[in-house]
Amino acid sequence: MSERIIIFDTTLRDGEQSPGASMDTAAKVEVARQLERLGVDVIEGGFPISSPGDFEAVKAVAQAVTEPAVAGLARCVKGDIDAAAKAVEKAKKPRIHVFLATSKIHMKYKLKKAEEEILRLAVESVKYARKFVDDVEFSPEDASRTDLNFLAQVFDAVVDAGAMTVNIPDTVGYAIPEEFGRVIKHLYENTRNGKNAVISVHCHNDLGLAVANSLTAVVNGARQVECTINGIGERAGNCSLEEVVMAIRTRKDVLDFQTRVNTREIIKTSRLVSKLTGIIVQPNKAIVGHNAFAHEAGIHQDGILKERTTYEIMKPADIGLTESRLVLGKHSGRHAFNERLKDLGYSLSASDLDKAFAAFKALADKKKEIYDEDLQAIVEEQLVTIPPTYQLDYVHISSGTSTIPTATVRLKKDKNILQDASCGDGPVDAAYKTIDRITKMKCRLLNYSLQAVTSGKDAMGEVVVRVRHGKNEVTGRGASTDILEASTKAYVNAVNRLLFLKGSSTAKS
Ligand code: KIV
Ligand code: ZN
Repeated sequence: MSERIIIFDTTLRDGEQSPGASMDTAAKVEVARQLERLGVDVIEGGFPISSPGDFEAVKAVAQAVTEPAVAGLARCVKGDIDAAAKAVEKAKKPRIHVFLATSKIHMKYKLKKAEEEILRLAVESVKYARKFVDDVEFSPEDASRTDLNFLAQVFDAVVDAGAMTVNIPDTVGYAIPEEFGRVIKHLYENTRNGKNAVISVHCHNDLGLAVANSLTAVVNGARQVECTINGIGERAGNCSLEEVVMAIRTRKDVLDFQTRVNTREIIKTSRLVSKLTGIIVQPNKAIVGHNAFAHEAGIHQDGILKERTTYEIMKPADIGLTESRLVLGKHSGRHAFNERLKDLGYSLSASDLDKAFAAFKALADKKKEIYDEDLQAIVEEQLVTIPPTYQLDYVHISSGTSTIPTATVRLKKDKNILQDASCGDGPVDAAYKTIDRITKMKCRLLNYSLQAVTSGKDAMGEVVVRVRHGKNEVTGRGASTDILEASTKAYVNAVNRLLFLKGSSTAKS
């Protein structure tokens, strides 16, 4: 029986450190529930001391899932460990993850501490964290640039102090597979505690080697891989979960390992994370990119038709992609629609189904071919759990090469119809300024992304915006075949989320 690799997902912590990727508590809980369905072993929910919002998010994640362990990150500082302990205390399987840099460069310039002090702090912190939970993980930050003898010393000391997992981060993505493999092998074979704790790895992708380094580490004794969905994370990101899991699955012949991941949930998880963070997946991204299973060249198409394995090493269905991309059209009925949604993993209440079906019919009138991605966009749009304080009733935008972009927007609020108009620097700016005038909320647009979720001229476009108002920051989403309508819907969605966050509808009608 092949050995199991523990999949530690840090999408909600390191992944969230991607510029512009921050997720609110509701979004983190949604991702955590999906990660549980995906079958990850550990979810790192966040860095509780870093902000009250992160603390609340980790706490909510800890209570939202039962199968995976939930970890909170902490520096080797009592206040950090207290916050992490409190945030994960309600988790069925709580974990505290403490870290401290051990490389010369970090000790000298960042921490201004000598080796003895680092060692003492690491040991004390692990012991302190063990007062709260049994499951403590320690990370010597910048391990790949740490003196190997010192790293081994820290490794043995933190395991003696009670760490069950020691994570070896390639913090700056500097390592080369063979070299990194040697480090792991040394810790596994030549330290006193090499076999008394789980060796974990956490690789960044600055040189594009995060997955290769993680796999080489596994071959050399690591039994936990830290990774993120879509490989998002600080700078160039982290080891991509879907890549490492599918490599293990696809190359069983040379990688005699297994994971608990239900790979059929991969594509759904990838899309959810992309949608909630606003970070678009590059089309040629391995496993989850739009083109990952597309065959363009005639020779390839011909080969695939004769025998799929000529050009396909994985089945699209194995990651949850349905073989047939074209699913429904204008004449499809409610039953077929519901069956398709069930195949896609959605189980809707009768009233949600009514709403989603009405949206589907409206889309089918505008668009001949409805793809799975269209259905996903529809369902996710219809299942907004926040109250729709404002609803988009009408938008008209005029812009062109020699026209000042102007928008007229009509919103519904309860029974009131609110309408206004404004100019802007572009059509989207004009619409957003108009909405600000109507809601009397001066919001700041921090990020705007537009993604075609299907292909063709009549593709469904999804807009994700990140908006700030006062201290609150939210993500709004909107989908439509008309990108200006999708943009407007996304902004209205963000406004509703802001109002929901504030706890009351302060905007005056
Ligand atoms: O990259 C890193 O070193 C980290 C640690 C906190 C594990 O993210
Ligand atoms: Zn990291």
